[in-house]
Amino acid sequence: MVAVTAVAQVSRADYRVVPLPDGINGIKDNDFKLKESTLVDYPAGNRDMERNAAMLSQYIEDLTGLHLSTRPVNTGNNYGCISLQLDPKMTSDEGYRITVTSRSVIIAGKTAAGVFYGIQTLRKSIPVGKTDQVLLPAAQVVGSPRFGYRGMHLDCVRHFFSVETVKRYIDIMALHGMNRLHWHLTDDQGWRIEIKKYPRLTEVGGWRNGTTLGHNSPVNDGIRYGGFYTQEEIRDIVRYAADRYITIIPEVDMPGHMVAALTAYPQLGCTGGPYEVWGMWGVTDDILCAGKDETLRFVKDVLDEVIELFPSQYIHIGGDESPRVRWQECPLCQRRIKDLGITASAKQSAEARLQGWFTSQVQLYLTQHGKRIIGWDELLDCDIDSTATIMSWRGADPGAQGAMKGHDVIMTPVDPLYFDYYQTDKTWNEPIAFGGCNTLRKVYDFEPVAADLPADKRQHILGAQANVWTEYITCEPQIQYQVLPRMAALAELQWLQPEMKDYQDFKARLPRMVDIYKHYGWTYRAKSLIIEN
Ligand code: ACM
Ligand code: ZN
Repeated sequence: MVAVTAVAQVSRADYRVVPLPDGINGIKDNDFKLKESTLVDYPAGNRDMERNAAMLSQYIEDLTGLHLSTRPVNTGNNYGCISLQLDPKMTSDEGYRITVTSRSVIIAGKTAAGVFYGIQTLRKSIPVGKTDQVLLPAAQVVGSPRFGYRGMHLDCVRHFFSVETVKRYIDIMALHGMNRLHWHLTDDQGWRIEIKKYPRLTEVGGWRNGTTLGHNSPVNDGIRYGGFYTQEEIRDIVRYAADRYITIIPEVDMPGHMVAALTAYPQLGCTGGPYEVWGMWGVTDDILCAGKDETLRFVKDVLDEVIELFPSQYIHIGGDESPRVRWQECPLCQRRIKDLGITASAKQSAEARLQGWFTSQVQLYLTQHGKRIIGWDELLDCDIDSTATIMSWRGADPGAQGAMKGHDVIMTPVDPLYFDYYQTDKTWNEPIAFGGCNTLRKVYDFEPVAADLPADKRQHILGAQANVWTEYITCEPQIQYQVLPRMAALAELQWLQPEMKDYQDFKARLPRMVDIYKHYGWTYRAKSLIIEN
């Protein structure tokens, strides 16, 4: 008889993850053996680091089944441990340094956020699958992001998504090293944020009586549709994101894309309505009346509650796709134009400049409350102060022009950063999408800083973000399909210096990232891994 002994399962880490670290330098030493008895140390009394430690332990358990305990420590002996440490001498606020020797694994950052990104890199280095031991090759691994603004956007208006879905979206962002969630909460098709002072916004504006099928077809499904987030739920989501070093930037789009609010409070429009929460897609002529003081009061009241809910320095106030035909015909809007002495210029109508005035009022109010505004690039067409940050969506040129005028800019050009667009030109077996063709490769190759932007203007490009509008996205697996694996390509351009980018190398690293998607049960576009489009 031969005794049967179980063979220990051993796997081996690979630090070449997505986004690629800036440096991976081997150290002459034996591997570190990560096993169930390995402890995760963190500085005693530091709540952020305690949470970081708990998350690392959870990630390792998710991927390998190994359950590591965490331990607060005051000083030094970290033999056999993964040790999370703050190092104020590090230069990048969000950078990390992982030092692996046979004795220990030290994950250091200048901030707890930097440590978190080191944790993400370590997590992605570990192969997915049950194991008894993971061998971590001795090395120093460093990384720091190219851009401070690394965003994803999510439209929860055109279709409404549960708190759990939004949290999973945040989890996906964290895996990709992203730090800003632009949350689109109000539009023509619904109002999704509870505002205590105006309860009809969600009671009435939160619901539509039916939705067109497909791309504005003549068929309406006739099914009442809607929902909204209570303030309690919003606080919970904001906290959940903050725990993952993600700031949520809420968007309240104005003066256009406001039909849901107008349905609830028709007196805020130029004609007084009646209005109906819209079941079609696109741009409507009905917008807020800029001639009524009541409209500005409403906007400020809403923003008062938004400010209370979102600690973000930035509030997004939209400003896109705002036709001014109602303003042309509205006696109150025309009176406002007259009273303010607004005149048309060669490039701008009086009504365009009225939008500039309206936006400036809102900007002033938010500035007085310690906030800054972001608006879509249409704001560049209506005399807005250069302290407004511009989101460049109608291509990258408006962003470059904004930077030349002294605006900070976030790059979200439709081509290639609208992730509601198709990922291929062969669309017949794809879920319905807006149109377009933003392949993985196009996303990867996007360069947010125009080559001819002068050196002294380059710092205005704060970063890049992909947008996910949900007219045709009805469920969570479809959101995930649209963003995965394109988020991996976006993460790499947000983190890497351009000279480090290499698409073929990225494609070779991508399958291990996808192993993690699969492990968590996230839907992704598998074809993007094997063929170009
Ligand atoms: C936008 O896509 N209307 C900003
Ligand atoms: Zn008006």
